[in-house]
Amino acid sequence: MKIFRDIVEMQRWSMEQRISGATIGLVPTMGYLHKGHLSLIEEARVDCDLIIVSIFVNPTQFGPNEDYGKYPRDKEGDIEMCEKAGVAAVFIPDVDTMYSHDASVCVIENSLSQGLCGQSRPTHFGGVCTVVAKLFNIMQPNVAVFGQKDYQQVAVIRRMVQDLNFAVEIRVAPIVREHDGLAVSSRNMYLSNDERQQALSINSALNLAHESFFSGQDSAVEIKNLVIRQLHEHCMDVDYVEIINGFDLNPVETVQMGDVVVVAAFCGKTRLIDNCIL
Ligand code: PAJ
Repeated sequence: MKIFRDIVEMQRWSMEQRISGATIGLVPTMGYLHKGHLSLIEEARVDCDLIIVSIFVNPTQFGPNEDYGKYPRDKEGDIEMCEKAGVAAVFIPDVDTMYSHDASVCVIENSLSQGLCGQSRPTHFGGVCTVVAKLFNIMQPNVAVFGQKDYQQVAVIRRMVQDLNFAVEIRVAPIVREHDGLAVSSRNMYLSNDERQQALSINSALNLAHESFFSGQDSAVEIKNLVIRQLHEHCMDVDYVEIINGFDLNPVETVQMGDVVVVAAFCGKTRLIDNCIL
C-alpha cells in the first residue's frame, strides 16, 4: 500500500493510474477508522480497480468552540486497517500541506447547507466543501463514497459536484450500527458508559418514528414530538429533530415515503447525529 503525505506526489500517482486505465474510488475520512468507514471501502471496491482513502482531520470544518483539538487520531491504526482492507493508497497530509497560510479561496454551498447542522455549525459545510473539492482535484477519482450517516453532507456534496462540474460519481453507503443500534461514529469514544446508554435513545426514537409512520401517522409534528419526547426521557439535549424531503432537505408537514427523519442531539458534551429514511 502506498502512503502519500505530499499533494504533488499523490496527484501524480493518481494521474498515472487513471492514464493506465484504472478506475479510482476515493473514500474521504477524518481517520480514527471504524466499521462505518470500512463499509465505504467495500462499496468503493464493487466497481473500482483502486481505492484511495484520505485521512485528514480538517480544521476548517470545525467551529471555534468545537472538538478539533481533541478529535481522536490514530494514524498507525488507520494505516494498518487500510492495508488489511486492501486499499491501494492512503493520503495523509499535514494541515500545512493542505492549507497554505495565505489560502483565500473556499467553496460555499448556499442553500442545502443553511438549515439543520448548518444552523448550529454555520462554518461547517464551507469547510467540508472546500476540503472535499481539494481532495477531488488531488485524487481525480471516478467514484467517491460517502455515508448516509451524514445525510446533509451528502446532499451538499452532490450539489457541489453538480454545480461545479466535478467529473466524479457520488455513491452513498447505508448507516453502520453497533449491535445495540447506536450509529458507529468516531465521536462515540467521548461517551461515558452512562452516556452511551442514553445515546441509544437516538436509534430507539428513530425506530419509533418509523413504526409510527408505517402504522399510518403522517403528521410531521406528531412524529417529531414522539422523537423529541423519547430523547428528552433519556436526558438528551436536542439540537434539532426534523422530517425533511430527501432531496431539497426542506421540512415537510405531511410525511411521505422517502422523507427522512434527521436528529442531532447532545449526550453530555458530545453532539451525535443520526437519521432514518422512511
Ligand atoms: P468522517 O466523520 O471521518 O466520515 C467519513 C465518512 O464516513 C463520511 O462519508 C461519513 O458519512 C461516513 N460514516 C461515518 N460513520 C458512518 C457509519 N456509522 N456508517 C456509514 N458511514 C459512516 O465525514 C467526514 O469524516 C468529513 O466531513 C469528510 C467528508 C472526510 C470531510 O472532511
